[in-house]
Amino acid sequence: MYDARRATGLRRPPPNPTVEVTFRRLTPRDAPEVAYLELEIFRYPWSENSLRDCLELATVEGEAAVINGRIAGYLIIQAVFDEAHILNLAVQQLHRGRGIARTLLERFLSTTVKRGVTQTFLEVRASNYAAQKLYFGLGFAPLSARRNYYPDGEDALILVKKL
Ligand SMILES: CC(C)(COP(=O)(O)OP(=O)(O)OC[C@H]1O[C@@H](n2cnc3c(N)ncnc32)[C@H](O)[C@@H]1OP(=O)(O)O)[C@@H](O)C(=O)NCCC(=O)NCCS
Repeated sequence: MYDARRATGLRRPPPNPTVEVTFRRLTPRDAPEVAYLELEIFRYPWSENSLRDCLELATVEGEAAVINGRIAGYLIIQAVFDEAHILNLAVQQLHRGRGIARTLLERFLSTTVKRGVTQTFLEVRASNYAAQKLYFGLGFAPLSARRNYYPDGEDALILVKKL
C-alpha cells in the first residue's frame, strides 16, 4: 500500500531565500484566512464555517506559521485523553521548503509528554509522498490503510507516532 522508497527518495529544489517565520496560536478568527489558503491548497478544502466550528472545540488546537503578518502554514490537531489526531497540515505553495511544516509538527510533538498524549495519528493520501516523507522523518510509521477514504476514491494511509 504505502511505498516508503518512493516517499523517502523524493528530492526537491533548495529552499527559497530566508524570511522571518513566527508562530502563534490559531484562533476561530483566523478561519477566513485559513479557508482562503485551503482553497489554494486542497482539492476538497475545509470551509470557513467548518474551520471556525472546529477551532472552537475545546479538544482542538491550531498553530499558525506567520510570514509578513500573513498565515503561511497551519497545523490543526485534536487531542482526546492520551490520543492526538492531526486534522490538517498545510503550507502555502510559495513558502514550502523552508521547514515550516516540520517546525509546526515538532512544536506540537514536543508538547505531547506534557499533555499526556502517547499516540498521535493522521491520515495521508496514498499518493502524497512529500507529506509521507515529512511524517516518516519525524518518526511516524504506517499503521493501516482506509480504502476509498477520500471523496475521489483515493486510499488513505493511517500513520501513527507512539511515544
Ligand atoms: C506536505 C507539506 C505540508 C510540506 O510543507 P513544507 O513546509 O514545504 O515542508 P518542510 O519544508 O517542513 O519539509 C520537511 C521535510 O518534508 C519532506 N518534504 C516536504 N515536501 C517535500 C517535497 N515536495 N519533496 C520531497 N520531500 C519533501 C522532506 O523530508 C523535508 O525535509 P528536507 O527539506 O530536509 O528534505 C506541503 O507540501 C503542503 O502543504 N502540501 C499540501 C497539503 C498537504 O499535503 N498536507 C498534508 C496532508 S496529510
